[in-house]
Amino acid sequence: MSEAIWDSFIETMLAPGLALVDPEHRIYEEEYRKFLLRNITHGDQLNEIDGYYLLPGFEPESARYAYDNFEFKQGDVIISTYPKTGTTWMTAIVQNILYIRDPKFLEQASKISLFFSYMEFGPVSKYRVTENLKVPRRFFGTHLPEPLVNTKKIRKSGAKVIYMMRNPKDRAVSWYNFVQSLPMSSHKALEPIFPKDMRTFLDVCFSGKQKSFAKDGEGYFECLKEWYKHNSEENFRIVVYEELKMNPHAEIKKIADFLDEKLTDEEVNKIVENTSFTAMKQRAEAGGTQRKGGMQMFRTGNIGGWKNHLTVAQSELVDRKFKEVLGDTDIEFIYE
Ligand code: A3P
Repeated sequence: MSEAIWDSFIETMLAPGLALVDPEHRIYEEEYRKFLLRNITHGDQLNEIDGYYLLPGFEPESARYAYDNFEFKQGDVIISTYPKTGTTWMTAIVQNILYIRDPKFLEQASKISLFFSYMEFGPVSKYRVTENLKVPRRFFGTHLPEPLVNTKKIRKSGAKVIYMMRNPKDRAVSWYNFVQSLPMSSHKALEPIFPKDMRTFLDVCFSGKQKSFAKDGEGYFECLKEWYKHNSEENFRIVVYEELKMNPHAEIKKIADFLDEKLTDEEVNKIVENTSFTAMKQRAEAGGTQRKGGMQMFRTGNIGGWKNHLTVAQSELVDRKFKEVLGDTDIEFIYE
């Protein structure tokens, strides 16, 4: 990605969030811009926290701040995901559920980027903005492994957590394509863990050597297992990407009930429409967050595409690992 494309992307990442707080917060813009250039455009170092590795831009200090200092409150919604399981989609659904009755605000809130809403993304100083976002019910995202999130504090505050789950084979293909669109993929230092060739990339991914939001040697399955421990808790809900895709009305209704938002059928229909793959992709293209040659957030949005990309051996390896790590849970994936 060229620096110019990234620069304009930064604009779309920062400005709307900053505009939602006092105008004086614009003084931080330069500081955040520098951070993004340093860590995203030029970042070639993984960050490490308690043995877990985070991609450039995801900061241990911010993760610790969220754990120790950030005050969650009743009404807050935290969307927790392993990358490429439908984070952006669920974020849009939650925003729609919370603000569907105020279209102008929904439009504004949908522009609060991951920079401010992801707990661990960006420098800890960005919390000066995050903490002042004028949002009636707040939403946050995180890719952090469960031990790095203060789930006790979140539960006590009355906030709710939605964990998104997707079959690991489609997830891995999505991840490959996404990583290729990031500036870090062209840094030599990261090439061994994010190879350019898809087959090699998937081999590294499935062998747990990618050090992405996991410990070395671990990956999506281990992270899912940790989060799954909360499955029976009242403030925690798992949503399955494939179920959402196949049955959006029923699933969105269930998510709204979980968030204590009573929606009319008409509102649910509107949310299904607003958050369809096509509608979201079109909005991103029109708004500049999905530029040609830039970061790819919307690719196919389909189930089962992995069959065209994984070798039989890779697919069997995933099945074996699944049994090893998650065999003692009742988790089942939907592969087609
Ligand atoms: P694909 O690359 O398989 O198309 P995340 O937001 O966690 O990074 O996940 C990205 C994946 O979710 C991508 O998958 C993307 O296309 C898909 N996605 C985004 N919006 C979607 C939507 N509205 N409906 C279905 N899938 C969506």
